[in-house]
Amino acid sequence: MELLRLKDSRKRYAALLGSKGDFMYDIESTLTLYEDEIDDDAFSLGQLESKTWLVDVMRDIFMVRNIDYGTIFVLCGWYGILPAMLFYGGIPVSKIRSFDIDPDCHKIADSMNKTNTDNQWRFKAITQDIFDINFEKHSWQCWSNKNERMSYPIIDSPDTIINTSCEHISPHWFNKIPKGKLVVLQSNDSFTEKNHINAVTSKEEFESMYSMSEVYYSGITEFEKYNRYMMIGVK
Ligand SMILES: C[S@@+](CC[C@H](N)C(=O)[O-])C[C@H]1O[C@@H](n2cnc3c(N)ncnc32)[C@H](O)[C@@H]1O
Repeated sequence: MELLRLKDSRKRYAALLGSKGDFMYDIESTLTLYEDEIDDDAFSLGQLESKTWLVDVMRDIFMVRNIDYGTIFVLCGWYGILPAMLFYGGIPVSKIRSFDIDPDCHKIADSMNKTNTDNQWRFKAITQDIFDINFEKHSWQCWSNKNERMSYPIIDSPDTIINTSCEHISPHWFNKIPKGKLVVLQSNDSFTEKNHINAVTSKEEFESMYSMSEVYYSGITEFEKYNRYMMIGVK
């Protein structure tokens, strides 16, 4: 019997996995479609486990504090894997905007989140330098495949701001975030990668770089090649 190719059928994924079928189907199809463009490191165990850690802690915080994460801005969002995990992670999320300066990322991120992108842009990836984001009310536009023209300006106001790439960027973007916003941050102590211009040597150094009025969580996880730090709180 010929091997059944699950990736050819969204319905088979749904039958096996329920609503998580869409999650797996969208990821699997994107990996096939963009095989030559995707940097394998995005699917390394360390990258995936650090995002599972984030979703697990956000779920714990939701259980204890009943927080609705509302509109989420994911900064330096790369291929949109974290947003996909958030949508299916059992936490309250209205919509997610993923910002990355690399113009090759948005099509891959939209595809990773195809179900939610197609659902009236519940997810949308945007090519943008995070230093140009207005964290009170951000106006953005992008090409609409459906209408074959630029979208009208859309204004979003984030309830939650996530940056899991703090090691990649100087911390000054944090100054632009208004006080009172919920912030989720990750960094690491890996200095071997040349793009890690802002890696930190300890949890204390990480905490002192991003000042919060209330910290809900601050922790460290050891991965094979580095330690990752995570802080969740209100600026
Ligand atoms: C290698 S990736 C992410 C690694 C990280 N550990 C993660 O998965 O969250 C870092 C991303 O930051 C993006 N980036 C760097 N500087 C940026 C900026 N100023 N604005 C937006 N995106 C930026 C890069 O284009 C890249 O996609």
